[in-house]
Parts: sequence; C-alpha cells; structure tokens
Amino acid sequence: MIITVPEALSTNSLIREMDLPHGAALRAVNQTAGRGQRGNSWEAEPGKNLTFSVILRPQSFPAERQFLISQASAVACARLVTDILRQANLPLEAQVKWPNDIYVGHKKIVGMLIENTLSGQFVSSSVIGIGLNVNQTLFLSDAPNPVSLANLTGSNYDIDHIARRLLDLILGYFDDTMNEKGCRKLDNLYRSMLYRRDGIHRWCEAATRREFFASIEGIDNFGRLILRPQHASQPLIYSFKEIIYL
Ligand code: BTN
Repeated sequence: MIITVPEALSTNSLIREMDLPHGAALRAVNQTAGRGQRGNSWEAEPGKNLTFSVILRPQSFPAERQFLISQASAVACARLVTDILRQANLPLEAQVKWPNDIYVGHKKIVGMLIENTLSGQFVSSSVIGIGLNVNQTLFLSDAPNPVSLANLTGSNYDIDHIARRLLDLILGYFDDTMNEKGCRKLDNLYRSMLYRRDGIHRWCEAATRREFFASIEGIDNFGRLILRPQHASQPLIYSFKEIIYL
C-alpha cells in the first residue's frame, strides 16, 4: 500500500505519526523539509522526484542485526536503478556507496535515511526514507554530485510506477533477512554492488584527519567498513562517520 499526499514536511516524520501497518509506504509529491543524513536537508523539486518512506514493523528482529535493513534497502534501490539504466540501453550500473548511498559513476542518485526504533534488544519499527532523483535535471543545493534518471537517460519516468516497483523490491529483500540463507544472499549482493569494491583508494580518518590508501576488505555484521591499508598487516574497522571517502 502506498499513500500519496500532495505535500509533507518530511515523509519520514509524517509516516511515524500515521500508525500504518508493516510494509506500508508514504509518498509526498512535494516534500518541503526533507531530512538527510548528518542533519542535512534533502533537495527535491516538487513533483519531479520520488520522496517516500516505508515502514517496517518486524517481529523479533535483533537490534544488533539492524544493518540488514540498510542492506535490503540499498540493494533494492541499486537493483531498480540498474534495471532502468539497462532498459535505456546504458552500459552503467548503480553501486552502493557504504553504508547506503546509491551512486552511478561518481554521482549520487539515491539518498537514504533509515530511522529504527528499538524496544529492548529488538527493532520494533524501521522507517526507510528514500529520495530517488527521477525527473529533476537541475540541482541547486550544495549536495555533492547529484544526478537523476532523467540526467542519465534523457527520458522522463512515471514516479508512481517507480515507487511501486521499489516498494516491492524493498519488501522482497527484507523477507530475505528472515532466514540465514537469505541473509547470505543479501550480503553477497550488497558486496557485489559496492562502490570502490575493487582496487586501492584514498581515505581520511575523521578523528585524526590522517589520510591513507586502502582497499575494502568487507563489511562486518554490525555494518562497519573493514579497510585494509596498503602495506599493513592488520585491517582497520570504521563505523559510519568515522571515515571519509577522498
Ligand atoms: C541523505 O542525506 O543522503 C539522505 C536523504 C534522505 C531523503 C529522504 S526523502 C524521503 C525521506 N524523508 C525525509 O525527510 N528524508 C528521506
């Protein structure tokens, strides 16, 4: 079920007030005060992009495995974008910039704000807020490197149709988190879609401002990034915000 409202400040905030069941989504045609990561705002021209939030109300979902919700959402978005690019005969694929931005090349096409509510050791609800740039072609904010489907393919898209496909994908991949085999499949897909998955790249440790070159060794179960610095025998492990891509 997708409820569409003409306007909302932030779909992530509004969906929390609406008492919707597991798997429901809320779309705002015009989101006027979209929230991004790190307290940033999220730009979306009215009616041109997908701004929506999905609410999950899982049963007994361990709080320590909450990164699986990020993985399911990121894989769903990347898959949707890649499918659309393929349909447009473009030899491009969407990648997941850890933890859950979606990039095409070096440009960001999807931003995600996932807000989980914990009850003891469990995730009692999760709001997955997704901003997917669809038909907007000019971006005015200072967000780094935004890009839209229309920028990439030259076509315009039906946002309702995209929202329905994305909701189905998110719920399908979320179902995979319910069993170990599904979790492994999801983890493999996530890794295969990872931005910078190959090669050695430049990074900066946020706390020390130390710059170094490293390859991505993997992601641990808590969703932390494991980097292998060049010439080092020990890997380094970082949580979100502790490491900067250079
Ligand atoms: C980011 O900073 O990359 C995250 C952006 C998340 C934007 C989406 S748009 C729908 C939902 N509602 C919000 O207020 N934010 C998220």
